[in-house]
Amino acid sequence: MSFSVPEIRKDFPIFSRSVSDGKKLVYLDSGATSQKPASVIEAESDFYRFHNAAAHRGAHQLAQEATDLYENARAEVASFIGAPGGPDEVIFTKNATESLNLLAYAMGNAQPGNRFALSAGDRIVVTEMEHHANLVPWQELTRRTGAQLAWFGLTDEGRLDLSDINSVITTNTKVVALTHQSNVLGTINPLAAIVARAHEVGAVVILDACQSVPHMPVAAADLDVDFLVFSGHKALGPTGVGVLWGRKELLEELPPFLFGGSMIKTVTMTSATWADVPAKFEAGVPNMAQAVGLAAALKYLTNLGMDSVHSHEVALTGYLLNKLNAIETIKIVGPTTAQSRGGSISFIVEDIHPHDLGQFLDSQGVAVRTGHHCAWPLARRLGIPASTRASIYIYNDENDCDVLVDSIVQGQKYFGRF
Ligand code: ALA
Repeated sequence: MSFSVPEIRKDFPIFSRSVSDGKKLVYLDSGATSQKPASVIEAESDFYRFHNAAAHRGAHQLAQEATDLYENARAEVASFIGAPGGPDEVIFTKNATESLNLLAYAMGNAQPGNRFALSAGDRIVVTEMEHHANLVPWQELTRRTGAQLAWFGLTDEGRLDLSDINSVITTNTKVVALTHQSNVLGTINPLAAIVARAHEVGAVVILDACQSVPHMPVAAADLDVDFLVFSGHKALGPTGVGVLWGRKELLEELPPFLFGGSMIKTVTMTSATWADVPAKFEAGVPNMAQAVGLAAALKYLTNLGMDSVHSHEVALTGYLLNKLNAIETIKIVGPTTAQSRGGSISFIVEDIHPHDLGQFLDSQGVAVRTGHHCAWPLARRLGIPASTRASIYIYNDENDCDVLVDSIVQGQKYFGRF
């Protein structure tokens, strides 16, 4: 399929509507959630209309169809992220936040002797650019286990400061959890050195790929990480479905998090044993329709080609950065060139509070996110209370960037600044 934004936009029903009294919708908030193509909406709806039953339960035709659709969705995810061990390594969750909580809680359930058991003297390493989903669960796990939390700081350009990598990832480090691409700065982190050091000391690497899997080719095996998480809704899929991928031998050793139906092998009145992975981590009737919708989303992206998606975004990111860099009163938060960065572009406009700017942009039909973007410690490190973020995706083009920049200039006049 050739990559044509006008053609792509026709696949997204939401772009047939206008906003703010008849203005064209310029959606620049895909870092928060992406819009959905009709094929995803239809796949989810078709599941409920024609195949609805509880997967992995029931002896009837509908239950078998629901099971097949759900398991085919798992296979689609495994193929999309290049899971070396295939579909058994893919666990469906509610979203990336739940995937990360699953890991943190499961590790907290590990007993002495299990490789995931943590105690005082052990270390968990994160970075100062994590969004709360990949920070707070680890804070809580250290609180429960007595382990210590440490982190990589940032350079002023918004890159990870790896100058002291060996003293951050110490020999007692058990977990290194970091984002692939910052949701605020757009920075794409250099994984090779971090993964090498983590594995040298026997730590597992958990990659928060929320902002990378939807935007660039990501192959779990090539990255050499041990776990990877992402949310369906940021990758054209429905809300209510996320993914946890993990190496099979690690998932086998990791204790369960949620307990109940489907995740057991045997149950007596006083005890239970666990099903094999991935079922061990999927208690209860699963989010079947949402998983099916996610599979349709990943098929849509596969048809476009993730290389083409990435090239489009690199070009558009460069275009928008150039336009913003050209205005003296705008300061980009994070790398100012498109090199090793994605299309989440946060910025400050001199003398205008981001919330005021966001409201003005909305009046022009431009949807952006304002605030600390669920990464409050990062905002503190940068010394800013908030910023405005434009985040681009496959359905955005240069015209959207032009409308954004023209609207910022108008906003400056509106607020009497220039
Ligand atoms: N992490 C999401 C965002 O960046 C919520 O908007």
